[in-house]
Formats: sequence, C-alpha cells, structure tokens
Amino acid sequence: MAYEALRGAPDADPTEPGGPAGSARAHGIEGELSPTELRKLLDMVREHTGIAMAERKRTLLQGRLRPRMRALSIGVYGDYLRYVETHPQEWPHFIDLVTTNETSFFRTPRVWTYFAERFLPEWLAAHPRETLRAWSAASSSGEEAWSIAMTADTVRLASPPFDYTILGTDISMNVVQAARAGRYRGRSIEQLIASRPDLAARFFSAEGDAWRVAADLRARVQFERFNLLEALPRERTFDIVFLRNVLIYFDAPTQQRIVSNVMSAMRPGAMLVLGESESLQRFETGLRFEQPLLYRKADGDGRA
Ligand SMILES: C[S@@+](CC[C@H](N)C(=O)[O-])C[C@H]1O[C@@H](n2cnc3c(N)ncnc32)[C@H](O)[C@@H]1O
Repeated sequence: MAYEALRGAPDADPTEPGGPAGSARAHGIEGELSPTELRKLLDMVREHTGIAMAERKRTLLQGRLRPRMRALSIGVYGDYLRYVETHPQEWPHFIDLVTTNETSFFRTPRVWTYFAERFLPEWLAAHPRETLRAWSAASSSGEEAWSIAMTADTVRLASPPFDYTILGTDISMNVVQAARAGRYRGRSIEQLIASRPDLAARFFSAEGDAWRVAADLRARVQFERFNLLEALPRERTFDIVFLRNVLIYFDAPTQQRIVSNVMSAMRPGAMLVLGESESLQRFETGLRFEQPLLYRKADGDGRA
C-alpha cells in the first residue's frame, strides 16, 4: 500500500520536492466512504473527541480527509482509517480535520457587555487583591481568549492593581498553534477593526499582511491542547469559564460529563458562559441560572 512507504515519516513536508505531494498530485482518492467505513470513522471521532457526528456528514468528512490523504499518498478511505489507528502520531492531524473551528472576536456581543459591565466590576469589588483567572475552554484559533484579554486589560489599565491570567484550550493542535501565534488576517480581524477600532488599534499591530496581538497581551494568555472529555488537574481553577459553541457537538451524556469536568475547575462563585444556542436546562448541575447563557456556581457559603 502507498502509505507503507511513509511509515516513520508521516509528517514529511508535503511541499518537499519529490515528497508525498508529488505522488499525491497524480493520486486520486477512489470512491466514497462505504457505510461500514463511515460508521468506523464516526466511532473514531466520537471515541477520541466526544463529537457525535451524523452519517449525513459523509460528504463533508470526505472533503476534509482528502487533502491529508493526498499528502500521505493514500488513495482509499479505509486505508486512511487503518493508518490513523496504527500511527498514533496521525491522531492530532485526524482531530484537526474532524473539528469545526468557526469563531470570531467578541462573538455574541451581549455576553461581552455583561462581562465588561457587570462581571468584571463586581468581581473586582469582591476580590480587590486577587488575580482573575479565566478559561476559554474550546478556544479554537484564540479570538475568544483574546476578547477576554482585551476586555480584562482595559480594566487592568484603568483599575490597578487588578490583574488577570487566561488559559485557552482546544483539542485541535492546529488552532492551538494559531492562537499562540496571535496573528490574524482576513474577515476575522477586519470585523474587529470595523466593530471595535479602539481595541484593535490598542492591542494589535500590523505584521506583513496580518495583524498580531501585542506582546504584553500574549504574555498573559497561555494556550494548550486539552480534551474536554478529561478533567483539568485539581489545582487549576477559574473565576469564569467560557464554554461556548462546543456543547452542541456532543450528545446529552457527553455534554453532562463535560459540564461536570468543567464545573470541577470552577472556583466557588465562578461563572460559566455558554454559546448562543446552548443551555443547561435539562441537566442537574447545581449551577444557578443568572440570565440566558450565564450560570453561576454556589459560593463558599453554599449560596448559588
Ligand atoms: C465552533 S468552535 C468554538 C470556538 C469559541 N469557543 C467560540 O465560541 O467562538 C468549537 C471548538 O471546540 C473544539 N472541540 C471540539 N471537541 C473538543 C473536545 N473534546 N475538547 C476540546 N475542544 C474541543 C474544536 O476543536 C473547536 O475549535
């Protein structure tokens, strides 16, 4: 099989002369995912990410797998699935392909109004000498974490000695690397420049054809690869967790498991922020509904 030749070098640069791309150009992907292969693929996605994908996503999935298969000179879907199973180093690529990473700066504006005008002033008044810890728990390419950072930094400059740290995590290595680099171009940054020119001017500078997050902001935000099916170490706890536009990808038992994992990383009184079409209505979490998309954990005295 073609991919046998790549054993031990699956990350070979596909642009290298004579590398996998050369043969891939002539290497068409044959046929479609068979029903059995499709079920196997969906099982692999669910087992490793928790994401429950429907069989009607077949065309979408085929389109996402194809460029990677070409780069590896693999012409048959079944061979690629076997390749993933037998090459642990392929899993991060596979996960990059099957996740949906759509995001934007200040997505769902009313959440950011609440964060800036209610959450931060109240938190600051209640914790005058503490460092705020925020977690963007499915941070994609970083826009959400940088939105937290720009908002918190505005408060830091206006209200010393307020300080904060931010953790951004995502299961997809590709987007974690993009978030760390903090370089944006195209629609993502254009929308920010149009809607929040003050923040864009203060926190970004032009770098070639891109805009890059300022170094002092980058120093306060850490990005890591992390699977929400797991729990963070006990000592890593947060005052606010943004878990937005990710629960929608899981079935109800997995949502429950993830919410419970996330709750174990919330300090007493911490806030949980969900995405536009998400709710905890059908779960017993003990969190208090504060307003749509916003939930609060009981404080140390047991008050929710
Ligand atoms: C649609 S994006 C949401 C980004 C951002 N939170 C927002 O609201 O704009 C969903 C992200 O969840 C990530 N994701 C999916 N399953 C995950 C898992 N099991 N653990 C961690 N992240 C996951 C995907 O890689 C993707 O980047």
